[in-house]
Amino acid sequence: MSKLIIANFKSNKNREEYEQWVDIFERGVQKVGEHVAIVLAPPLVNLMFFSNRLMGKKTHPHTSLGVQDISPFPAGSYTGAVGTRNLDGFDVRYAIIGHSERRKYFKETNIDIANKVQEALAAKITPIVCVTKDECAATANAIESSDRKKCVVAFEPIEHIGTGTADTLEDIVKTKEWVTTAFGNVPYIYGGSVSASTDTAILTHASIDGFLVGHACLDPHEFLSLLRQIR
Ligand code: PGA
Repeated sequence: MSKLIIANFKSNKNREEYEQWVDIFERGVQKVGEHVAIVLAPPLVNLMFFSNRLMGKKTHPHTSLGVQDISPFPAGSYTGAVGTRNLDGFDVRYAIIGHSERRKYFKETNIDIANKVQEALAAKITPIVCVTKDECAATANAIESSDRKKCVVAFEPIEHIGTGTADTLEDIVKTKEWVTTAFGNVPYIYGGSVSASTDTAILTHASIDGFLVGHACLDPHEFLSLLRQIR
């Protein structure tokens, strides 16, 4: 099974910087093995640029697009929201849902997250649901049981996000049990200071299905170096 690596650019960079990023990525991604499935999740306003530059060209058959969030509502009068209908035509395959920064700064609740999961699935977009250990069971319970098993779940310990130090392999592997208990046997990924210098034992561990990457995707050279280490 291929490993899923999601680049979450958050609210970083402007258009010119993304042009430089894509130039470097396009050249380097050729050397990344096809056992790695790459998902690029730029800010929404840059989605069209990514789509035009990367998707038509089949630069890397295992690169797809994701969004960092999605509206919990269907199409309609929801000023400022971007829902699945608005994403039609961009070939968005994944949506990050319930990231701790959304929960903290935008006061997202588990009900919002459940609604977003439903919206994403109805549009054939795979939800990547982010949880801490504490939130895992409550988040799963809020989501329809038939939808739970269609999610990818990202274990994202807040104390390791953006700190430069990833969690231990032992804790990451142990937490998979919590996720499996709550969600069922779903793809399990880890996020929190994953970079090219993360312990290879973590980057190559068979029971971790991928990684959600923040800071380390911002420099395309570092991101490519990380991708090359994934097994
Ligand atoms: P980080 O972010 O890689 O910068 O720690 C990860 C995340 O927020 O998912």
